[in-house]
Amino acid sequence: MTSPKLYVNKNKERFLSELFTFLKIPSISADKACKNDLLNAANFVKEALLKAGCSAAEICETPGNPIVYAEKFLDKKAPTVLVYGHYDVQPADPINLWHVPPFEPVIKKTEIHPDGAIFARGACDDKGQVYMHIKALEYMTATNNVTCNLKFMIEGEEEVGSPSLEWYVKRNQQKLANDVILISDTGMISNQQPSVTTGLRGLSYLEVEVTGPNRDLHSGLYGGAVANPINILTKMIASLHDEANHITIPGFYDHVKIYSEAERAEMAKAPFSLEDYKKALNIADVYGEAGYTTNERSTIRPTLDVNGIWGGYMGEGAKTVIASKAYAKISMRLVSGQDEVAISKLFDKHFKKIAPKSVKVKTTYLHGGLAYETPTDSIGYQAAAKALQESFGVPSIPQYSGGSIPIVALFEQELKSKSILMGFGLDSDAIHSPNEHFGVFNFLKGIETIPLFYKYYAQLFKENKA
Ligand code: BES
Ligand code: MN
Ligand code: MN
Repeated sequence: MTSPKLYVNKNKERFLSELFTFLKIPSISADKACKNDLLNAANFVKEALLKAGCSAAEICETPGNPIVYAEKFLDKKAPTVLVYGHYDVQPADPINLWHVPPFEPVIKKTEIHPDGAIFARGACDDKGQVYMHIKALEYMTATNNVTCNLKFMIEGEEEVGSPSLEWYVKRNQQKLANDVILISDTGMISNQQPSVTTGLRGLSYLEVEVTGPNRDLHSGLYGGAVANPINILTKMIASLHDEANHITIPGFYDHVKIYSEAERAEMAKAPFSLEDYKKALNIADVYGEAGYTTNERSTIRPTLDVNGIWGGYMGEGAKTVIASKAYAKISMRLVSGQDEVAISKLFDKHFKKIAPKSVKVKTTYLHGGLAYETPTDSIGYQAAAKALQESFGVPSIPQYSGGSIPIVALFEQELKSKSILMGFGLDSDAIHSPNEHFGVFNFLKGIETIPLFYKYYAQLFKENKA
C-alpha cells in the first residue's frame, strides 16, 4: 500500500503547481469588482473535487457568492465527515508592503520555513488548506483508501461574515447531515508541536458614526465653541478601557466563562516564549488586560479594538477644518458565555450614553458570531490527535485560538455536530497581512495527515458503535 507520505512525496511538484493556479485567482469577497474571480475560484474548487474523486459536485447559487458542494459516498455503515473551508480571501492592501505581487505565488525560504513557504494572499487562509483536503481526497481515491463518506462545503464569503452560508445551511440540513465536521482554517503551535484548536472566539463588529455640526466648519471661526466629532469620538473610544485595560461597558463581562486555575495551568504548558513573541513583532513590551498572560489575553479573554478610524481632512498638507462627522470600525472578540447580539446592544447603549449632547451617535452592526469550544473527549478530537501524532511523530496538544469562524457555532446549532479544527498554519504566516504565506512543509504535512484522520475516525466510530 502506498502511504500518504510516499504519495505526497511523489506528487508534490504537481500539487504545488495546481495550488498556484488556485492562488492566482483574486477571489476577494470584500471587493465587488472581483465577482467574476469568485465564480472562477468556485469553479476551480468544483472541478478539482471532481477530479480528485468526488462522484458529484455542484455550484450552489446563494444570495451572495456560490457555495461549492461535493460528495463521495462509501457505504451506509461508514461515518460521514463534512469538510468546510472557504475559497474567498481578504483584500491584499496595503499592496505596497508586499515583497511579491499577492496573486503571483512564489516559494521563498524563511527562518521559520527553511523548506520554503508559498507567498500569496490566501496561501494559508484558506486556499492552501482547502487544497490540502482536495489532494488528500485524491490520494485516498487513487490508492483505494477511502474510509468515510465525504461531503465538502466550500464557501466564498467567510471573510465577510458568511452571510449566505446560514441561509444555505438552514435550507439543506438533510443534505449536509454528518457525524463530524472537519475544518482546516486555523493554525498550530509550531512545525515541531502540532496542536488541535479547541476554542475560537466570537465576534461583534460594529461601525460608529459621530455627527457634530451639519457641515464642515472653519476651525478658527468655530474651534473651541462647537464639539469636534473627531475629538469626541477618540475621547469616547479611550474611555472604553480603564487603567487595568478592562473594558468599561457595563455588563460586558457578565457571562464571560471563567477558567479554573487548573485549566489555566494546563493551557500554560503549551510552549511559548514571550521574548520571541516580542522580537517577532518588534515591540518592547506586550500590552493588555491586567491579571492575564499574553496567551490568555489573546484567546480566553474578550477584547475591544478599533479596526479603523477616519474623518476630517486626510489629504496632503494642512486644512483647518472641524469635520461634521467622524467614524470608527470596532470589533469585540467574545468568549464562551457572551452573546454577540446582547453585547452589540450593550455597546450601542453605552456608546450613546457616554456621548455629550453636542453630538449624535449612530451605530451599525456589521456582523458577528458566537465563540466555540470543542470537547477533547470526542472521537473526532481523538482521531485528529492520533493522526497528528502519527504524521509529526510527537503528541499534539489542545490549543485555544483567538480568531473567529462564526459559522462553526451555527453548524452545531443547525446540524447538531461538532467541528474539529485541525489547521496547519502558523500565527507567523501573516494571514490578512501583507506577505501572507504557508509553509511547503505545512501544506504537504496537511495532505499527509488528513487521510489518517479519516482512517482513525472510521476506526473509532466503529468501535464506539460496537
Ligand atoms: N481562518 C480565519 C480564522 C482563524 C485564523 C481562526 C487562525 C483561528 C486561527 C478566518 O478566515 C477569519 O479570518 N475570520 C475572521 C472573522 C470573519 C467573520 C471575518 C476573523 O477572525 O477576524
Ligand atoms: Mn479562514
Ligand atoms: Mn481570514
